[in-house]
Amino acid sequence: MRKSRRIAVFDSGFGGLTVLAELQRTLPTANFYYLGDSARAPYGTKGPETIARYGRECVAFLMRCDPDLIVVACNTVSSIALEELTALSPVPLIGTIEPAIDVALRRSTRGRFGVLGTRATISSGAYQKGIESKRPGAYVHAVPCPLFVPLVEEGLTDCKVTAEAVRMYLQPVVDSGVDTVVLGCTHYPLLLPALSRFFGSDVALIQCSKAIADRVAEMLRIGSEEVSAGEISFFTTDDVERFNLLGSYFLGGVRVSAELVRLDSGHT
Ligand code: DGL
Repeated sequence: MRKSRRIAVFDSGFGGLTVLAELQRTLPTANFYYLGDSARAPYGTKGPETIARYGRECVAFLMRCDPDLIVVACNTVSSIALEELTALSPVPLIGTIEPAIDVALRRSTRGRFGVLGTRATISSGAYQKGIESKRPGAYVHAVPCPLFVPLVEEGLTDCKVTAEAVRMYLQPVVDSGVDTVVLGCTHYPLLLPALSRFFGSDVALIQCSKAIADRVAEMLRIGSEEVSAGEISFFTTDDVERFNLLGSYFLGGVRVSAELVRLDSGHT
């Protein structure tokens, strides 16, 4: 039997769990190493240099787990620093932007896209440029939704406050007649009940996780010769108990027992 593959995944906090869950469903024999940098979340309200540095520190930490591949399960880092991180990483890296765009382009019927993301992701223009270059003439309505990540990190995924934030940010997106909306932040699938209710069934809501999982499977060529089930190791930079509790909730009851780690050299 071949040695199990080792896949590292990181995000600013709980959002990347939406990608991890899909990866684990698709690749149940792989061993996963998940880092949630909750102490410094949200990333999306920070400037590009800070975000790139956080990304470098996450990659450096995860390299200690000797991964075959690293998934940047964070649109904010992917949109700002994927190229830089790819250049310095000794193992392949997969980000979120391209996989999400490819799914959105396949799903859209009228070429009218909404893109939701953190302030940093939307300011980077990564989605807007990516969609327009692959589908010239597409309409793209991109909206930063900075309150969504803190709501998720607080576990407030489906309550009155969330519904109000959804309406405040997204009414103009609905009014502009989009047919496809990209959830350009890995935290946002955790708001799916509220988002689906708001957009209704005529608008396709796109997340990147399945496309990423398929790409990883293809890149690592995980085959049927591997039979034993893999394990997940969790690392967090903040309150372990809270991470275990919310992490388990977001993963549908999977037992989470995270290790507390420090990534920075003294300053945040
Ligand atoms: N979940 C991340 C993303 O996909 C990070 C959000 C944040 O920390 O602001 O953008």
